[in-house]
Amino acid sequence: MAKELNPRARFLMGPGPSDVNPRVLKAMATPMIGHLDPQFIQIMDEVMEMTRQLFKTGNQVTSVISATGSAGMETCFVNILEPGDTAMVCVNGVFGNRMCDIVERCGAKLIRIDAPWGEPIDPGQVKEALEHSDPKIVTIVHAETSTGVLQPLEEISRMVHDSGALFVVDTVTSLAGTQVKVDEWGIDAVYSGTQKCISAPPGLSPVSFNSRSLEAMDSRKTKVQSWYLDLSMIRKYWTGAKRAYHHTGPISMVYAIHEALRIVHEEGLEARFERHILNHMKLKEGLEAMGFEFLVAPEFRLPMLNAIKIPDGIEDATVRGRLLDEYNIEIGAGLGEFAGKVWRIGLMGESCTQNHINMLLGALKNIIG
Ligand SMILES: Cc1ncc(COP(=O)(O)O)c(C=O)c1O
Repeated sequence: MAKELNPRARFLMGPGPSDVNPRVLKAMATPMIGHLDPQFIQIMDEVMEMTRQLFKTGNQVTSVISATGSAGMETCFVNILEPGDTAMVCVNGVFGNRMCDIVERCGAKLIRIDAPWGEPIDPGQVKEALEHSDPKIVTIVHAETSTGVLQPLEEISRMVHDSGALFVVDTVTSLAGTQVKVDEWGIDAVYSGTQKCISAPPGLSPVSFNSRSLEAMDSRKTKVQSWYLDLSMIRKYWTGAKRAYHHTGPISMVYAIHEALRIVHEEGLEARFERHILNHMKLKEGLEAMGFEFLVAPEFRLPMLNAIKIPDGIEDATVRGRLLDEYNIEIGAGLGEFAGKVWRIGLMGESCTQNHINMLLGALKNIIG
C-alpha cells in the first residue's frame, strides 16, 4: 500500500500555485455538508459577494466555476461564441495561444493580433484590425504569466466597445495582486483562478459576466457545446432564486476560497496591491545587484511575476533543481520561446513576503556565487 502523504514543504515562488495560508487549509478540513444545504447556500452567497468586491463589479452573475482557470477561460468562450462567429484574440504569450485553440474548438473564426512575447499588445494594432473586421468578442490577457507583461486595458476596451464587440479578459494572475476594475474598465466577461494571488489551492475559477455578455448568451441559436460549462444552468445553481442542482459543488474548495477571500479583504485590496509592488521592488533591487536583467520594460512589468533573463553560462535546470532540492524553493522555468532563457519568479499572495525574497536571494547567491 502507498504510504501516507508526506511531501516536503516548499516555498512556492513560481508562476503558481502560490503558498496557501494555514487558515485556508484549516477551512478545507471543515466538516462536509450538502451542496444544497441552506448553510452552504449562505457560504456561496458570501463567496459571490467577496468575489464581486475583488473584481470591483456590481455584476449579479459573479461566481466560481468548479475547475481551474482554464475552465473559466473556456466558460467565457463556449457560452458567448457560436459556430461561425468571429473572435479577435490578442496573443503575446502562452495564454493568448490557449484562447486561440479554444476559439477554434468552438467553430468560430479566429483573428489573431500578435505582439512579440515580453511586450504588451499595442492598442493601435487592435484599432486597425477592428477597422477591417466585425468580431463578436475581443479577448486579451491582463497579466501574461508566461512573460511577465501587464497589459493596459482601458484604451483597448473603449475601442472594442466602439466597434460593438464584447471585451473578454483573463485576470488569472492579476486578480488580488493588482488593480482589476471590471465595471470601470468596461470588461464584459472576465475569469481568474484561485492559485495565484488569491492564494487558495488550484481548483476554482472566479468569473463575472455583465448584462451585455449575458444578452449575447441568451440570444444564442445553438446549444452551448459543453454541458459542464453551460452558464445558463450553472447560473441557476449559483444565483437562481431557487437553487437547482447542476453538478455537485466542490464543497471543500468553496470553503477554501471563502477563507482566502476573507484574508484578501481583511488586508484590504489597496494595501495588498501596495505590498505586491513594494516586494517586487525589493526583489528587483536584489536581483539587479546580482547582475540579473528583467525581460519586460519597467512600465509593463507585473509585480507578481518577475521574468528575468538567465545570464550566459548559468545552467537553467541545475540552478532550479538545486533551489528545490537544497532550499525547498520553487521558481518557474521559461515557457515556449523562453525555455532555458528566462526564469519566472512569482511573488503572489502568501508568497509575496520579504522573507521569501531574502531566502531566494540568499539561496541564489550560494548557488551562483
Ligand atoms: C494568464 C493565465 N491564464 C490562464 C491560466 C490557466 O489556469 P489553470 O492552469 O489554473 O487552468 C493560467 C495558469 O497559469 C494563467 O497564468
